[in-house]
Amino acid sequence: MSAESKSFYLTTPIYYVNDAPHIGHAYTTVAGDVLTRWHRQRGESVWFLTGTDEHGQKVMNTANLNGSSPQEWCDRLVETAWKPNWANLNIAYDDFIRTTEPRHMERVQRFLSGLKDQGHIYSGKYEGPYCIDCEEFKLPGDLDEGKCKIHGRQVEMVSEENWFFRLSAFVPQLLQHYKDHPEACEPASARNEVISFLESGVQDLSISRSTFDWGIPVPWDVKQVIYVWFDALLNYATAVGLGDSADSPGGKKFASVWPPDVHLVGKDILRFHAVIWPAMLMAANLPLPKKVFAHGWLLVGGEKMSKSKLTGIAPSDITDHFGIDAFRYYFLRAIPFGSDGSFSWEDMGARYTSELANDFGNLASRLIAMIEKYCDGKIPAIAFDDTLQAALNVTVSDADAAMIALDFQGGINSIMDFCKRVNGYVTEQQPWVLAKDPANKVELDKVLYNTADAIRALAVLFHSVMPATTETLWESLGADESMGPISMQRIGDVAGWGQLPAGSKVTKGAVLFPRLEEKAE
Ligand code: MSP
Repeated sequence: MSAESKSFYLTTPIYYVNDAPHIGHAYTTVAGDVLTRWHRQRGESVWFLTGTDEHGQKVMNTANLNGSSPQEWCDRLVETAWKPNWANLNIAYDDFIRTTEPRHMERVQRFLSGLKDQGHIYSGKYEGPYCIDCEEFKLPGDLDEGKCKIHGRQVEMVSEENWFFRLSAFVPQLLQHYKDHPEACEPASARNEVISFLESGVQDLSISRSTFDWGIPVPWDVKQVIYVWFDALLNYATAVGLGDSADSPGGKKFASVWPPDVHLVGKDILRFHAVIWPAMLMAANLPLPKKVFAHGWLLVGGEKMSKSKLTGIAPSDITDHFGIDAFRYYFLRAIPFGSDGSFSWEDMGARYTSELANDFGNLASRLIAMIEKYCDGKIPAIAFDDTLQAALNVTVSDADAAMIALDFQGGINSIMDFCKRVNGYVTEQQPWVLAKDPANKVELDKVLYNTADAIRALAVLFHSVMPATTETLWESLGADESMGPISMQRIGDVAGWGQLPAGSKVTKGAVLFPRLEEKAE
């Protein structure tokens, strides 16, 4: 497969199934969904992978506490909590990998044997602190009075004969990689952290555990299971056929997507993705991911929201009140991607009302109402407006540049600015005044057409962020009949003015963003 036709391949972290999802998890996956939908609308072929991380002590302990076997526990949580959560948030992933699936376990074992054959694995003794919540061997600097700085819980001391990966051998190559490809780790603050970590002296990594058995057996030493992070990181490659022969379905899939274009991760798991993972790939002579992007944390009371601290908010708590698309919109709009941000019901309520209900929703419902009233419910003759057209041109190129650079806030702002511009146009032109005199009919039609075509563009541009709402709007404009499904509308074409055909029948659909009081149960 030629380089040009390689799919845009994006991954989210695979989530621990020790508990149900909270909005911190949803934040990463929604960002991935928005970005992949945007790339699809650019006409690219896309592969979007998510899944669950099911091995390790954390999941095993939770299953035990709940009187369940780990496998039963994972099966239950995946089917009753995780998959329904992604369906509720309208996440259009292409594949969902579970690390307990044979396709993953077999390929992990084969990969590890390959590294051993190449001399990258040796046996040794590990002694030191381990945080079960992070599933991570800790350095003294990672602890505060014996507690993990992230989770605030006591770490356990591990002393085991394990298998080690020669991670330290790859440090010079990793430093060179980030020098040559600064875009491989973003934002810059994350890259700087990785570089100073690499410069501070990295030790070899223990990649197996012998004191419990919930994991993938080390193929040549089945008393040991593979360290959960070594197992988990490989999901990005096992899900697309790692190591399969070139002419098999797995081998073909691998050739069509590898290397990943973006690994989306939270900043707490940056080192795994920007140090250990590329070193594993270097050891196996595989091309490195083009980008690891570390986003910030959703905070509650100034601290990372987490289930272990009982601060986790379920996504459904928010979607039940504000709706799914407002959820998808809010976090990407309110928090610069890469920075931490606090969630507040008040701020979300304020933005919902001013930006979504007033600026966007009302614009659409007023336009539909006026076309029904003044134009018999049919889109009037195609018209043009130089200023709106010029503004749309700039909007599309700014929004596209921002979105593909993962600046979701910048992208949404550009689209929202255009929305405000269209509101300004309607206020200036006062179609309701024009409508009072039949002599103004041509002018009135022109204003309504321009507004309708601007809303057509807004619907397409907002589709990746708010898929269901924009689809409703698309149908109200009669555009699905005349222009085909909204998901097929291309970003590269959206700035072309005059696409909404004259004569399309508009219909008053459901209110796009109902007033919040009306949602009270
Ligand atoms: N299983 C590992 C990832 C393995 S990837 C090969 C893991 N799982 S996790 O469920 O704990 O977290 C998954 C993702 O959710 C991480 O990117 C993490 O940053 C993100 N978040 C968890 N809590 C978060 C917030 N409060 N805010 C934003 N993101 C957060 O780590």
